[in-house]
Amino acid sequence: MSKINKIAITGATGRMGQRLIREISQSPHCELSAALVRPGNPLAGQDVGSLVDLPPFGLELSDDISHVLRVSDVVIDFSRPEATLKLLKENSGTPLMIGTSGFTQEQREQITQAALSIPIVLTSNTSVGVAVMKKVCKEMAQAFGADYDIDIFEMHHRGKVDAPSGTAISLGQSLAQVPGFHLNDHTDRSGPREKGAIEFAVARGGGVPGDHSVIYAGEKEVLTLSHRALDRSLFAQGALRAALWLQDKEPGLYSMEDVIGS
Ligand SMILES: NC(=O)c1ccc[n+]([C@@H]2O[C@H](COP(=O)([O-])OP(=O)(O)OC[C@H]3O[C@@H](n4cnc5c(N)ncnc54)[C@H](OP(=O)(O)O)[C@@H]3O)[C@@H](O)[C@H]2O)c1
Repeated sequence: MSKINKIAITGATGRMGQRLIREISQSPHCELSAALVRPGNPLAGQDVGSLVDLPPFGLELSDDISHVLRVSDVVIDFSRPEATLKLLKENSGTPLMIGTSGFTQEQREQITQAALSIPIVLTSNTSVGVAVMKKVCKEMAQAFGADYDIDIFEMHHRGKVDAPSGTAISLGQSLAQVPGFHLNDHTDRSGPREKGAIEFAVARGGGVPGDHSVIYAGEKEVLTLSHRALDRSLFAQGALRAALWLQDKEPGLYSMEDVIGS
């Protein structure tokens, strides 16, 4: 990996955006080509270093999407669905690593369409551990069968706006592929539990970067498979790995499982 890759980030002012700026500044494999802020943000024009308490980068924060796309080999996006869709509209082929979560079904279809001409990794969780968990939790559901109830529990920091998390939903979608299981689309929890219905439980609080558990409850035993992110740099490092992997790929929609080769 001797080539220096030019990587841009969106949502530069956000928790993940700032973490990524620091990760990229320390990487020998890439350099920060641009950092996008919301149009009209007064920070536009200021040096990127001032945003993350680092010495000047010699690079200004930008609110110009077309400039950001033009100067970059790949873009990493951790923002909000509406901002991601806007980025896609202006993008005619720059590879994109999308870490944003909370897309509607219709918005996901727009991303799938865009992936016909752009290489895109779309993942609600860039950690290697969660990619492994997705694979293993399906095998466990197959082994237990629908006599066991499955619940997915997630907890995140108080600032997270979508619920259940994109990771919890995608774990649920993987599990729902196992015969005998389906996603519970009822929000009403009164009455007996429906056989095979996968349910979600959500908590928000403090600074928790991301906890996910899949709980298999039988009549006489309970088994819990858990993943805990200890630090947001986990997601930033995974996103960087995915972005570097993405650069020489053909247009298409890829997952974190593709990136880690599982
Ligand atoms: N895939 C993963 O592994 C992973 C890990 C962590 C988080 N996430 C997801 O990544 C996303 C960002 O997380 P975060 O914790 O960094 O959130 P955050 O701290 O709230 O940051 C969101 C960023 O998006 C920008 N933004 C919001 N709306 C915008 C708009 N309409 N146009 C342009 N920019 C806009 C914000 O700009 P302003 O400052 O101007 O509002 C901010 O820079 C969320 O969807 C989160 O669930 C994914």
